[in-house]
Amino acid sequence: MPDHPQSAPSHNKTAIAVPMLDLKRQYEPLHKELLAALEHVLETQQFILGEQVASFEHAAAAQLGVSHAIGCSSGTDALWLALAAAHIGPGDSVITTPFSFFASVSAILRAGAEAILADIDPATFNLDAAAIRTALDSPSASNVKAILPVHLYGQCADWDALTKAADDHGLKLIEDAAQAWGARWNKKPAGTLGDAAAFSFYPTKNLSAAGDAGMVTTNNDEVAERARMLRQHGMRRRYHHDELGWNARLDGFQGAILEIKLKYIAGWNDARRTIAHRYDDLFRKAGIANPGPYPARGLVLPTEVPGAHHVWHQYVVRCARRDQLRDFLSARNIGSEIYYPVPLHLQTALKSLGYAEGDFPEAERAAREVLALPIFPELREDEQQTVVTAIADFLS
Ligand SMILES: Cc1ncc(COP(=O)(O)O)c(C=O)c1O
Repeated sequence: MPDHPQSAPSHNKTAIAVPMLDLKRQYEPLHKELLAALEHVLETQQFILGEQVASFEHAAAAQLGVSHAIGCSSGTDALWLALAAAHIGPGDSVITTPFSFFASVSAILRAGAEAILADIDPATFNLDAAAIRTALDSPSASNVKAILPVHLYGQCADWDALTKAADDHGLKLIEDAAQAWGARWNKKPAGTLGDAAAFSFYPTKNLSAAGDAGMVTTNNDEVAERARMLRQHGMRRRYHHDELGWNARLDGFQGAILEIKLKYIAGWNDARRTIAHRYDDLFRKAGIANPGPYPARGLVLPTEVPGAHHVWHQYVVRCARRDQLRDFLSARNIGSEIYYPVPLHLQTALKSLGYAEGDFPEAERAAREVLALPIFPELREDEQQTVVTAIADFLS
């Protein structure tokens, strides 16, 4: 009997396995350099903040061309610090996307503000400026103080439209740049576009630490000073607490590792771009790329919009039979991931936001159709071909 396309592919025993991400390939050529830097931290015994973190902050600010870079304990804490440092808190509302990692909303709530959601653009999965305007016109939007766009998958949200919406309503813009180190909008780097920005250096991110780490960037001196104060329990002077901050400090080991990786990130992002373009070519040659934004029979490939310089944190396709495709790839030992299977307005922990199924149809549809395929700078061409062949087999 011929293989049913959705059954485990018994004919393919010799095919190579393709990991979703293999961090060891990045580590191996760097390990001597990394170990020497870690040893230096051990010698200086500056384990929290200290010389190595300051040096990384300086190098990061110089690379982005931003006045201030403040290292902290995670991307989640960076979001909270950016909001709190920009004086966003109780009594304020912040508009963000329902199609992101949980922290984009939970950080708003932790800052004491209300979260208002607006739907996404189905082509980019980023906040849709028209949906923001609709949200701003609703009666619940009287206290909106900021918009928090996410540069999802490594592509900046439409900053021209967002700036216009923010300017028209006198709002701040806080970037969730967790997935977007090196991304640009009209040649300006993510992290320099808004009033403040938050990066994550979680190990799977393009620029990654060896544990949890994050950063706030801003061109605003006051926001920077406040973020530094808030990351150390609201202290400006040792053991004198001016505000209720938190422990959100960055470790010396993480600073040391990140400063080294900063030297390589531009090359790694270029490699990701090459890989993304190669996927596009291979899928088109295989005849399974369909026009978007919604999938009919084949795949809808991701788009890079004019003005954006995408850094391909993820290469995300849409497929109508996404769950079956994922099972099919798993049976061939090909990694894939769903970012994100449940939109934030339908998360149990966020019921109090008061939304219901049907409120954000684009986010809900994306949650059913998106599939992230293996992409990392060291991914080989034969591995990509294996992924494309498997998907073509599934769709045949
Ligand atoms: C869009 C987005 N925002 C925020 C975060 C939170 O970052 P972290 O995991 O470093 O706390 C992440 C990463 O997981 C993310 O992808």
